[in-house]
Amino acid sequence: MRAPAYSVIAMGLWFMTLTVDADSSAYVELQGKHLTQGRALWLANCEGCHGYGIAGAPIPMDPSDWASRLKQERSVLYDRAINGFFGPDDTMMPERGGNPNLSDTEIMAAVDYMAALATYYIQRKRK
Ligand code: HEC
Repeated sequence: MRAPAYSVIAMGLWFMTLTVDADSSAYVELQGKHLTQGRALWLANCEGCHGYGIAGAPIPMDPSDWASRLKQERSVLYDRAINGFFGPDDTMMPERGGNPNLSDTEIMAAVDYMAALATYYIQRKRK
């Protein structure tokens, strides 16, 4: 008679994973002025795709999306965010996330925040 209890727990976990993307508290505030600015820029310009995997955008809360990307030089990530990038599956990262008003410095701060957030979730998974 224990099976039903397990399935209730499983359902609860399933709902938690469903709602994690929609909850902005998933976008943890990380220490330091640079990452605080990066977070604000990321929320305004990048979250619309990267928060939800829109058009194949890698989600920072999903370690399997970011583990291999983080092994690249940070300069590669900056370059692809600034100049745009087509991945092997023909998914496209638009130049400057589609906002031509963003400076290189601002893009780099948003990339640093997204990389730090992805690292946070990768480390949390290991614990
Ligand atoms: C219109 C949707 C969209 C928006 C908005 C967007 N991205 Fe992306 N981004 C993507 C997609 C799709 C990919 C995956 C490309 C691939 O690897 O195939 C991606 C990949 C990336 C990558 C990983 C590149 C790599 O080498 O793996 C970085 C870094 C990145 N985006 C940064 C940003 C930043 C910073 C912003 C905001 C300024 C942003 N993106 C806004 C869709 C978007």
